[in-house]
Amino acid sequence: MGMQACNLQNLPENYALRFWLYHLMTWPQISFVAEDAKGQIVGYVLAKIEHPSEDDKEAHVHGHVNSISVLRSYRRLGLANKLMLLAQEAMTSIYHAEYCSLHVRRSNRAAIGLYRDSLGFEVAKVEKGYYGDGEDAFSMRLNLQNKN
Ligand code: ACO
Repeated sequence: MGMQACNLQNLPENYALRFWLYHLMTWPQISFVAEDAKGQIVGYVLAKIEHPSEDDKEAHVHGHVNSISVLRSYRRLGLANKLMLLAQEAMTSIYHAEYCSLHVRRSNRAAIGLYRDSLGFEVAKVEKGYYGDGEDAFSMRLNLQNKN
């Protein structure tokens, strides 16, 4: 519920509690939170693992970051960077994920700075009108091979 509350404050993309619970129960090792001294959640990363379908022999197991955010007064302290690194490390060490993917609004300068400049993600493709309000998404990827 703390993750959901943080998400509601920070992003227009919100999810029912069962969506959070499904991820946390299915892949409990790859999502993380940052807490303040009182135990309030001030940042989180919610992630999942995608397994290739039996028909797609070329596809690989990969991690996907559904959502990440940090409360405004805790930004620019390196929290999101640390949350992403923890998720990426767990994706490879536990699930042997070959890459990590995510979607981000093309106007989201802070998040694109985090993914591209700090973590080394690249834009794999542009998904036109991906968001509810019609904004395009960058579909980004980071190769996790040789990362850990
Ligand atoms: N402008 C430009 N670059 C930025 C900014 C910014 N405002 N904020 C972070 N960065 C980049 C920088 O490269 C920064 O490194 P530096 O501080 O050494 O220059 C790097 O990201 C790491 O910054 P952190 O301090 O780890 O990032 P922070 O904890 O502030 O969180 C986040 C970044 C999550 C994007 C935050 O701004 C936020 O919560 N925004 C609102 C929610 C959001 O947009 N979430 C991402 C949506 S996409 C998705 O969920 C998959």
